[in-house]
Order: sequence, then C-alpha cells, then structure tokens
Amino acid sequence: MVIVNSVSDLQARVDELRKLKKSIALVPTLGNLHAGHLQLIKVAHEHADFVICSIFVNPMQFGEDEDLDAYPRTPEQDQAALEKEKTDILFMPDVETVYPRGLEAQTYVEVPGISDELCGEARPGHFRGVTTVVNRLFNLVQPDAAIFGKKDYQQLLIIKLMVRDLGMPVEIVGVDTVREPDGLAMSSRNRYLSSDERMIASNFHATLESMRDQLVTKGTFSPGIENDASVTLAAMGFKPDYVSVRRQPDLATPGNDDKALVILAAAWLGKTRLIDNVEVNLQPN
Ligand code: PAJ
Repeated sequence: MVIVNSVSDLQARVDELRKLKKSIALVPTLGNLHAGHLQLIKVAHEHADFVICSIFVNPMQFGEDEDLDAYPRTPEQDQAALEKEKTDILFMPDVETVYPRGLEAQTYVEVPGISDELCGEARPGHFRGVTTVVNRLFNLVQPDAAIFGKKDYQQLLIIKLMVRDLGMPVEIVGVDTVREPDGLAMSSRNRYLSSDERMIASNFHATLESMRDQLVTKGTFSPGIENDASVTLAAMGFKPDYVSVRRQPDLATPGNDDKALVILAAAWLGKTRLIDNVEVNLQPN
C-alpha cells in the first residue's frame, strides 16, 4: 500500500493507473477504521481494479459544538488494517491540502432540502460539509465507483443526488450496515460510550427492529409509531433527536401506498450521538 499526502502525488499515481486503463474505487472515511469501514474496502475490490481509501477528519462537516477535536485518530492502526485488506493507495491529506484557501473561502456543494432534514436539522451545515469534501475527493481521484455505508442512509442518498444533479461519472455503491453481535451498528463514536451506556445502546437497534415488525404486521405506515418509539427510547435513557419512517428512494414522508420504507433514528446516550436505520419492505396489497 502506498500512502500519499499531497494532491500532486495522488494525481501522479491516479494518472499512472489511468494510463494502464485500470478502474478505481474510492472509499472515503474519517479514519479510526472498524469492521464496517473494512467491509467497504472488500466491496470496493469487487467494483474496480484498484482501491483508494481516504482518511480525512473533515472539519467542514463538524458543527462548532461537536467532537472535531475529540474525534478518534488512529493512523497506525488504520494503516495496518488497510494493508491487510490489500488497499492500493491510502490518501491522508491535511486540512490545508483539502482546503488550500481556508474553510471559509472554500467553494461548497449542497444538495438543497434533504440536507436540512433529519440529521441535517440536528446538525446544520453537516451535509454541506460532507458533499463538499466528497465532491473534492471525487475530482481529485476521478473514481469509477465510490463505496458508502447504508449506516449513514441519508448521507448515501444525498451523495447519490449530488452525483445525479452534477452528472458526475461515478457509480455510488451502498453497503449494508455491519453490526456488533448485539445489533449495535459499528461506529467510531461507540468508543465514547461508558460500559453502562454500551449495555443500554443495544436497545437502539432493537427498538427500530420492533418498529419494523409492527409495520410489517400492519402492512402500512401510521405516524403514531414514530412517537411511540421515541417515548420507548426516552424511557430507556436515550434522548432522541428524531425517529422517522420515510420512503427509501427519496426519504419523503410515506403515503398509504408506499411499500419501500426505511426507519431512521438518531438519539443521544449521554454524550454520544447514535444513528441507525432499518429498511422495511411491505408486501404489496
Ligand atoms: P465515516 O463515519 O468514517 O464513515 C466512512 C464510511 O463508512 C461511510 O460511507 C459510512 O457510512 C461507512 N460506515 C460507517 N460505519 C459503518 C458500518 N457499521 N457498516 C457499514 N458501513 C459503515 O461517513 C463519513 O465517514 C464521512 O461523512 C465521509 C463520507 C468520509 C465524508 O467526510
């Protein structure tokens, strides 16, 4: 695995691969890699000849009161894990390399509307930061495919919309969420949980699964289910930001005839913000 830090080095490597007519898959990350990230690398190998992973803790997607400074950085551990997965290039730029004119001056990309809902409502500016950095990475690498996790369901949809709106020639591949044995979605932020909180955390996914069972039994969506789940989560010690049932393809509020649904939720457990989602495919009438 080659580690590159500069744009010129990255582009020289990418040019070389292009000349050899090799396809490239990109896996963007914030680092502190776990089995969920590594699953994306595995899937990337199925989609291209060469796999490039980026590790960049993107300040533009963190709010002022958020955990930018505390965000876990484990470069050596990450490098070893990527090496094992036969990653070809690891791109680890610093902030000046990604935003040479500074964060404030940086041209940004934003998908309107959807970027202000759900996680976007709780984290203003977050998705603008995500789409801006992903756009920047796509322009630098010009990948044939880019791999993202369904754990960040809204992020995945927003990136698909950006690519479609801007006619970017990259295939966006979504990968199922990798979970701990008790169902908790793997996340770098899980390490913020105390041992008591970690025990409670398994109820988060279980609550979404029980919502899925209710939807399947009823065969249709009724809004009361969201509030009931929020109350259940609050009783267990979570502080929900939202629990929402949406349509899979556009995250709009479902109508009576919609069958492809997704339950999305974000909740605080102490100082840790957890997100998760469960897809539900109802039977046609
Ligand atoms: P990060 O949180 O590091 O996640 C990088 C990628 O790994 C994302 O596509 C995310 O959805 C995926 N991922 C995280 N946990 C996962 C899990 N348990 N199972 C499957 N996939 C999982 O998401 C970001 O970074 C950033 O917003 C980024 C896209 C890199 C832009 O800065």
